Amino acid sequence: MRLAVLVSGSGTNLQALLDAIAADPGFGGEVVVVGSDRPDAGGLERARAAGIATVVEALDDHPDRPTWEGVLRARLEDQEPDAVVLAGFMRILSGAFLDGWPDRVINTHPSLLPAFRGAHAVSDALEHGVKLTGSTVHLVDEQVDHGPIVAQRAVEVAEDDDETSLHERIKVVEHELLPACVKLLCQDRLVVDGRHVHVRPDRSRP
Ligand code: GAR
Repeated sequence: MRLAVLVSGSGTNLQALLDAIAADPGFGGEVVVVGSDRPDAGGLERARAAGIATVVEALDDHPDRPTWEGVLRARLEDQEPDAVVLAGFMRILSGAFLDGWPDRVINTHPSLLPAFRGAHAVSDALEHGVKLTGSTVHLVDEQVDHGPIVAQRAVEVAEDDDETSLHERIKVVEHELLPACVKLLCQDRLVVDGRHVHVRPDRSRP
């Protein structure tokens, strides 16, 4: 499966995905393009280092959001991706974008959804005083951090955690969970039934 990955930040999740693909001949997917809304996103450097095509479209360079999204979508489509991975992409995508890849846009979010949606999930969880947070990988629908959940893993909050330390431990989990879920997507093993995502058995195993 040909994958587009969208990033806004340092791209450690992109790197984890690239490393997982490189280490697993049976992964079933390859990253063909990395897109960003930020020219300075570290993830773009990681893509270039891996010889992957990059696309940068900043929202401010377009008259409005639909135009920006349409251009971003068209430029990704030049590389004919079959699915899109949001790996720290901090912009909301509308149905007009998502319709290009039904049930094939997947996101990693640093909380146990439906708790702490939005751009400040880690600090919101700390502020709320939760003892447990974590990582959620989900399919993307038109609502923010809302679509059907593929997998979740919990991370305990330590007494002395700040946003940085907690986010770093969540990222360690994300770096395993996101590639594992993308692999299932690539192998066409995710079955979506309303809000529920079932995982088909691995037919390559006896
Ligand atoms: C990740 O923790 C990801 O879950 C989060 O941004 C970080 C990106 O890190 N995404 C969101 O908060 C989306 N709402 P990275 O650039 O090092 O992969």
